[in-house]
Amino acid sequence: MGLKDICKTLQFSDLGDERGKLIVIEGEDSVPFEIKRVFYIYDSDPTVVRGKHANKKSEFVLINVAGQSKVRITDGYEETVVELNKPMMGVFIPRMIWKDMYDFSDDSVLLVLASEHYDGDEYIRDYNCYLKERGIL
Ligand code: TYD
Repeated sequence: MGLKDICKTLQFSDLGDERGKLIVIEGEDSVPFEIKRVFYIYDSDPTVVRGKHANKKSEFVLINVAGQSKVRITDGYEETVVELNKPMMGVFIPRMIWKDMYDFSDDSVLLVLASEHYDGDEYIRDYNCYLKERGIL
């Protein structure tokens, strides 16, 4: 299975009508986990690279609810870039996938849904440690 099959692009339901769009995301339905944490990133300019980590436990769905950004994901073997530029699309990032978020537009609001509460100890922030943890190094 390739990285694109593992880190699936998700399309969310639009329940909008003539009054405007309404996107609904339900845990364990439109995203493959119970949502325990939500955070969002904005005011990051195009020169900033965020993320640069993998998680031992947490799974994530990333959605640009406004503006756009890119996420580079790798499993240590393959690498792919997903452009996040639509409020009705997201990308699922399972545990132990390395991710970098970058190329934020000025109006970017990157919403992140997470399967776990925050625990700094489950973050791997060193790429060589990540490769070792995966048995690649
Ligand atoms: P960091 O993980 O570096 O952000 P990103 O992955 O988006 O670049 O987090 C920045 C700081 O915020 C860091 O000190 C940890 C803290 N933080 C929390 O306390 N809770 C959270 O849910 C998140 C995402 C970060």
